[in-house]
Formats: sequence, structure tokens, C-alpha cells
Amino acid sequence: MTLEEDKPLFTTTLSTSFLNIKNMKFSKKNIFIGLAVFLVIAQFFPIDKTNPPIEESLDFIKIQQAPPAIATMLKASCYDCHSHHTEYPWYTSVAPVSWMIKSHIKNGRAKLNFSEWGNYDAQQKSQKMEKSVEVVYEIKSMPMFSYTVMHRPGKLTNDQRKELTDWFAQQK
Ligand code: HEC
Repeated sequence: MTLEEDKPLFTTTLSTSFLNIKNMKFSKKNIFIGLAVFLVIAQFFPIDKTNPPIEESLDFIKIQQAPPAIATMLKASCYDCHSHHTEYPWYTSVAPVSWMIKSHIKNGRAKLNFSEWGNYDAQQKSQKMEKSVEVVYEIKSMPMFSYTVMHRPGKLTNDQRKELTDWFAQQK
């Protein structure tokens, strides 16, 4: 076989597969049906909502003896992702939103777990307090925006951010 004979064959294969793609109907209707099928199937993959066991003696609020106002803010704005006290409202049952929430809880606990505060050493504790001041007061990336949009009670005003992080700074 010479190179010249190979060439047309290659071109034919390419143009056929190109034609196949072209023949698939990416109409609005088909995209809608595909999406609907995906959403229905996604509901068969719920997230695991079992919280890890709670050991009160390791809890941040308890160990640091947080005043009631601080404890309320922590529970309302941080504990759903950074502790074993996660509450799961109705929308945590709707995939694929639920998958995103699950991953936030998993990653949140991995970075900072207020239910395991007692297991951190002094250096870890002080690092986590420093980071918390940064993300809550300076950057304002915590509590996460996607969380406060769905969960209004978790929203913190600037005054609350200041109050909470002033207290964080004293815990180092
Ligand atoms: C909706 C879930 C959610 C809530 C609510 C939330 N966090 Fe987070 N937090 C996360 C996730 C997810 C990460 C990990 C982000 C990453 O790895 O980039 C994180 C990371 C952090 C970190 C580590 C940042 C770093 O760069 O090391 C700190 C500190 C933190 N959060 C503090 C808080 C505090 C304090 C609150 C409450 C005022 C809070 N978070 C509320 C999900 C949350």
C-alpha cells in the first residue's frame, strides 16, 4: 500500500464520523429530555447523612467556654460544615445540589472540625483561630456564600463578624 492509497481512506473515516456527530440531534427538546433523565437518575444517589459520633468533651464551644452569643453564631454559621452537628434541611435531599453540600461538609470538617477541637495541639489550635479570623473577617469567604443563600440564619453581619473574630483572636 502506498501513501497515496492510504490518504483517501483516512479522509473517508474522518468525514463519516463527522457526519455522525452532525446527524445527532442536539435540539432544545433532546437536551431538555437528557437533563430530565439525568435529574431523575441522580435522585437514586442520595448522600449519607449520618453524623460522626459526638464527644462533648472535645467540643470547641465547651472547651473554650464560648459565651452564649458566640456559641449561637458558631452553631448558626459554622457548625453545619465544621462539626459533627450537621443539620440537613430538605434541599440536602435533592441531587446534584446534595452532592455539592456533602463535599463542602467533608472538606470543611477536614480543614477545621469544632467537634474534634480537643484533639488539636496548641499550634494547630492557634493556626485554626488565625485562619478563622482571616476567612470570616478579612476575606469574608466564610460562612460560604452558597450556604448563606440557602440558609439565611447562617448569614453574619459585619458587626457579628467583628464580634466573632475578636473572640477568636483571644483564643490563641
Ligand atoms: C457550607 C459549609 C461551610 C460553612 C457554613 C463554613 N465553612 Fe469554613 N470551610 C468550608 C469548606 C468546604 C472549607 C475548605 C475550603 C477549601 O479547602 O478550599 C472551609 C475552610 C475553612 C477554614 C480553613 C481555611 C484555610 O484556608 O485553611 C476555616 C478557618 C473556616 N472554614 C472557618 C469557618 C468558620 C469560622 C465558619 C463560620 C463562621 C465557617 N468556616 C463556615 C465550608 C464551610
